[in-house]
Amino acid sequence: MIPTLEWTSEGVRFLDQTRLPLEETYVLATTYEQVADVIVTMVVRGAPAIGVSAAMGVALGVERSKATTVEALEPEFQTICKTLAGTRPTAVNLFWAIRRMEDLFAELKAKPGMTVEAIREAITAEALKMYDEDIEACKTLGAHGADLLPKEGGVLTHCNAGALATCGYGTALGVIRAAVEQGSKIEVYADETRPFLQGARLTAWELMHDGIPTTVLCDNMAASLMRRGKIQAVVVGADRIAANGDVANKIGTYGVAVLAKEHGIPFYVAAPWSTIDLETAHGDDIPIEERAAVEVTHHAGKQLTPHNVGIVNPAFDVTPAKYVTAIITERGVLRAPYEESLAGLETAKA
Ligand code: MRU
Repeated sequence: MIPTLEWTSEGVRFLDQTRLPLEETYVLATTYEQVADVIVTMVVRGAPAIGVSAAMGVALGVERSKATTVEALEPEFQTICKTLAGTRPTAVNLFWAIRRMEDLFAELKAKPGMTVEAIREAITAEALKMYDEDIEACKTLGAHGADLLPKEGGVLTHCNAGALATCGYGTALGVIRAAVEQGSKIEVYADETRPFLQGARLTAWELMHDGIPTTVLCDNMAASLMRRGKIQAVVVGADRIAANGDVANKIGTYGVAVLAKEHGIPFYVAAPWSTIDLETAHGDDIPIEERAAVEVTHHAGKQLTPHNVGIVNPAFDVTPAKYVTAIITERGVLRAPYEESLAGLETAKA
């Protein structure tokens, strides 16, 4: 399995995604501040992986704390959570994971005779549980979605919603993996995904690692391929799904969804339940991260644009629910109207 992130006795070990595909190197975070930095710099990225990384960051912070009483640990715990919550704003998995840790801390703290050592153990165990649950959710949603893909044909994906974006197996790429495991003959078309090139660098790398036929295209080629009949389905991941089914995902996803509708191609979104945010009513309310201009102005250290030209770099966009054919989760496949289908599965188990 691709070792995206791993809890070790020395700290949290991350496969450095900024160096893929040519270099397979690792970064060891030994403090929670380093975990926060690894998330900001996108050494680790992808909504579910960000969530579990943050949970491990909390666990690391609590493990390394010098506090000897629960009262002394509490303000430190709050600082750790605040630091990790300040890393990236769009993927709701980050806040979901931190809230789960906060709820656990509150529950433990309320128990009579609770010790710092017992809190350390429980918080670390919870982070490891979230890691296992994430892989399980990906495998289950992959199995739910596999039948939606063509038995033979082209499937377009955008960004990287694979093993590298999760603790393993992937969401959109999990659906593709499950379909391939069931014998479907799929050619994956991976949008390069400017400016960070998650498709060209990461999706292509991990699918080739698994022997799944993959072709990379520049983002502006998708329309032409659809018109030429090369694409039978689109499947992407998500960073946050609002209560009405609007989907925030990597910048460029919205354009792909509009193109898919125009060409009569189904557009699927695959995500674990931790990506669903029923507290956010509409996609317009989802905070969109704006990243540094240098990601657009430069490539591999070389400047591409004239000095001082204006730059925009929103990392995500919102695809309105009307473009989404189905949302594939570990709890099942949801169809419109999403307000009803999402609310209906809110309390269901995988
Ligand atoms: O900026 P990134 O690389 O973290 O963005 C990742 C995406 O947009 C993914 O499609 C999304 O997080 C789903 S990952 C299973």
